[in-house]
Amino acid sequence: MESMSVESMSVESMSVESMSMELEQSGILQETDEFAIETIHLSKFFGKEKQIRAVDNLNLQVKKGEVFGFVGPNGAGKTTTMKMLIGLLEPSEGSGKVAGFDIVREVINIRETTGVLPEPAGFYDNLTARQNLRFYAKLYNIEPGVREKRIVNLLETVGLTRAIDQKTGGFSTGMRKRFGLAQALVNEPSVLFLDEPTSGIDPLGAQMMRDLIKELNRSKGVTVFLSSHSMEEVEEICDHIAIIAKGKLLAAGSVEDLRDMIREKEGVHYLLEVQDIPLSEAAEAVKNVEGVTAFDIRDRTLHVSAKMKLRTEIAKAVKKAGGTVSMFEEEEMNLQKLFLKIIEGA
Ligand SMILES: Nc1ncnc2c1ncn2[C@@H]1O[C@H](COP(=O)(O)OP(=O)(O)OP(=O)(O)O)[C@@H](O)[C@H]1O
Ligand SMILES: [Mg+2]
Repeated sequence: MESMSVESMSVESMSVESMSMELEQSGILQETDEFAIETIHLSKFFGKEKQIRAVDNLNLQVKKGEVFGFVGPNGAGKTTTMKMLIGLLEPSEGSGKVAGFDIVREVINIRETTGVLPEPAGFYDNLTARQNLRFYAKLYNIEPGVREKRIVNLLETVGLTRAIDQKTGGFSTGMRKRFGLAQALVNEPSVLFLDEPTSGIDPLGAQMMRDLIKELNRSKGVTVFLSSHSMEEVEEICDHIAIIAKGKLLAAGSVEDLRDMIREKEGVHYLLEVQDIPLSEAAEAVKNVEGVTAFDIRDRTLHVSAKMKLRTEIAKAVKKAGGTVSMFEEEEMNLQKLFLKIIEGA
């Protein structure tokens, strides 16, 4: 759709469906165009008897232009998945596409259009930052004029201007991560793979990295696929998230989608403060609302568990009993809590 002008998209006499059908038939709009990354039954098995199922039947879809978080416990299969997506490991089963290219047959195209920050990142430590980037830029056949300017710009972007002629061997963990990001950007990729981009760096450095990732995504439309153990980080910067454990996909969607998933499974928990009547009376009234499964009075707060969202019904019941609701909140379910619930028992 990017290349279409507004004029060419006259919709006066066409429904959206018939228009997209026409576009699909004409080949302009293909279903896969929407995705920067897609995997179908992607699997990787290790060991003589293929007994280690590092990645097991993974179906993923990452939309173009989004920041996608890939999370899971140690050994879940995140790095193995990324390695298959960038052509470093061949899948045992299944297939995948990155930027429209097949991850087995079109690895060279994938290398050209993607950038990778691996964990751990490896550089030529006896070379300076500039020399390292020059080396990578040469691999991409970037002409010297463009190359030298880009090197300076990239190091400025990641805050390493002053270290441009220092050997990377002397870099701190935070500097190495930021330098790794600069290296991943040498070929101006449209898809960026970041394996734990902030692990081991201090809070300030981590925030800088997150801001950089957001900015790259916002200003250049780069699709970012990142793994992380920080749920706070993922919640802050990712549009969509996939949770993986023991090679299997457990859940995918926005944080709100994951919240809905847990709500459906475990119900909703509300906290209420009530004036004008004793809490015990409010509790009696709430108890009779259909769908309320439990209640408890703690710290002058009424805790209510319900099968589904019952905000209005609960508020009405309290009011009918003569009470005034002065505080009504749904118990906070941040990604950290959702993550723990989702991987529980996996
Ligand atoms: N080359 C290999 N040979 C055998 N087993 C491997 C190999 N690479 C990975 N594995 C196994 O595959 C599983 C997934 O590992 P992977 O490194 O992908 O996990 P991860 O999610 O990246 O974990 P972490 O959060 O610790 O980085 C683990 O059980 C690991 O031991
Ligand atoms: Mg890993």
